[in-house]
Amino acid sequence: MTKPLKAAVVGVGLIGRLHAMGYWQNGKTELVGVVDQNPDLAKTVAAEFNTKVFSSLGELIAAENPELISIAVPESVRFDLAIQAAKSGANLLLEKPLAPTLAEADRLVDEIEKISANKKVMVNFILRCDQRYSEIKDQVASGALGEICTLFARRRGTSLGADIYGPWTNLLISTAIHDLDAIMWVTGANIERVYAESVVKKCAQWGHEDAVVATLKLSNGAIATLETSWVMPANYHSPLEANFDVVGTGGNARITGSNQGVEVFTETGLSLPELSSWPVFQDQISGALRNSLENFIESVYSNKKPAMSLVEARNAQSV
Ligand SMILES: NC(=O)c1ccc[n+]([C@@H]2O[C@H](COP(=O)([O-])OP(=O)(O)OC[C@H]3O[C@@H](n4cnc5c(N)ncnc54)[C@H](O)[C@@H]3O)[C@@H](O)[C@H]2O)c1
Repeated sequence: MTKPLKAAVVGVGLIGRLHAMGYWQNGKTELVGVVDQNPDLAKTVAAEFNTKVFSSLGELIAAENPELISIAVPESVRFDLAIQAAKSGANLLLEKPLAPTLAEADRLVDEIEKISANKKVMVNFILRCDQRYSEIKDQVASGALGEICTLFARRRGTSLGADIYGPWTNLLISTAIHDLDAIMWVTGANIERVYAESVVKKCAQWGHEDAVVATLKLSNGAIATLETSWVMPANYHSPLEANFDVVGTGGNARITGSNQGVEVFTETGLSLPELSSWPVFQDQISGALRNSLENFIESVYSNKKPAMSLVEARNAQSV
């Protein structure tokens, strides 16, 4: 077997720690180091996945020259780190959204396309690697649903989303962006027109929305409704309610919830665990995130096109 690819992660918070786990558990990669501006967190994650801590990306590159680098910091600080990683010659897995604004996302895409022309660069839109969304895409592509008329995409979380993400990102570029991309990816159509209304409550203090409902007109003539919010009470039985429903002249395909059919009822009430995005199974990352990391690793290992390009990520942000 060929030598494992050297992989590293910058930013090992909620999602970056799971990237580190994915590289650690995958036989085709060796996790050679992590970086985080919080040194205690970096140490904890490095110990968990048996790797080294570096105090900066520059030090990590100088010592290990990784072939794969995940940039899993908040989007407000992604630009410089992504460019530095690209200049090292690594293949890149960037977290979404690319940047806080479309103008900065455009600059990032331009720069990275120049620097990393012969490298793999993927943006981590995990719905593209969620088997359920992929099944619906295949059904649409096969013509089984006929001509697509309407779609409905819901991603509604609890007010904990506002508490955690409200201060440094926003509902549209952090959350709705997944469904905007899924609508275009599943149908193979572009979103040409948008009518949207929003409600601003708790997120008023950070200058953005708590809830958005949009009507979208697609280039294939279909109409989609998007509903995204961070409003459900914190003790709601489901941390994430995600629905996706496609109606065509030949049929309907739909996804309900993110609990994979599991419902738990105890004295504290009903709960629907989140088992689609990044469940941990037998101490290893699983679900859509695992598929996404494996897609990126495989794209480098076997010289394949990764699941999501920079331009597609930019287009979802532009909507
Ligand atoms: N693809 C997905 O489904 C998905 C899911 C969750 C988060 N995300 C994205 O990932 C990014 C991070 O989100 P999160 O929830 O993991 O946030 P987080 O706050 O849990 O983690 C971010 C980490 O980055 C570190 N950091 C910040 N600035 C840094 C710097 N300059 N250098 C090194 N480390 C730095 C922080 O200390 C923190 O540990 C966001 O852009 C978010 O939108 C994507």
